[in-house]
Amino acid sequence: MNWDVMLTPYSQVVEELKVKLKGMRAQFEHEKRHSPIEFITGRVKPVASILEKAEKRQIPLKNIEQEMQDIAGVRVVCQFVDDIYTIVHMLQNRNDMKILEEKDYVSRKKDSGYRSYHMIIEYPVETIDGMRVILAEIQIRTLAMNFWATNEHSLNYKYKGRIPAEIKERLQRAAEAAFKLDEEMSKIKNEVQEAQRIFHRK
Ligand code: GTP
Ligand code: MG
Repeated sequence: MNWDVMLTPYSQVVEELKVKLKGMRAQFEHEKRHSPIEFITGRVKPVASILEKAEKRQIPLKNIEQEMQDIAGVRVVCQFVDDIYTIVHMLQNRNDMKILEEKDYVSRKKDSGYRSYHMIIEYPVETIDGMRVILAEIQIRTLAMNFWATNEHSLNYKYKGRIPAEIKERLQRAAEAAFKLDEEMSKIKNEVQEAQRIFHRK
């Protein structure tokens, strides 16, 4: 398999989605409205991770483009929980992508404590050989959810997926604390936004 060739349309998708999401944020800023998007990141899954996941999921290499849905991934990080659903609705109403699957781990957290809203989309890209439809995963989460997930991910990496029970419990508590932080921030959202508007005017 020539991975560079295979992955080229995937990096095209990641770049295009980042441009479009940043465009949405810019528009909110120009209109002096609270942007539901704080920042955006994106990545193409490294070849080693693709191979590892294919092995674990018993996906034959010839099927990975259909069966591995997160080779192209973008992450949208927001300030408030409400912002997640604002973005979800905006994405649902676009006609440059087709949503295949949605998982709301925001209102129903995973056992690990993980929260995020996931979408699997089909996204058309133009290549030098014509149009291709590529699968991509969009993860939408708050800053607090992102903080938790990033740390938990590092620990999973460190412990090769076998986090000791004691640390797992700590992570559960940390997830609860992150959730409480989001709840408290939501309650003072209007206050925070007003402060941010005043700050912007200066
Ligand atoms: P994957 O094999 O990871 O794709 O799982 P899945 O197909 O069952 O989908 P799911 O929506 O559960 O997870 C997709 C992605 O969400 C993962 O690749 C991670 O980026 C993220 N994710 C899911 N669960 C967790 C978790 O417990 N902790 C962290 N840090 N990230 C998670
Ligand atoms: Mg997945």
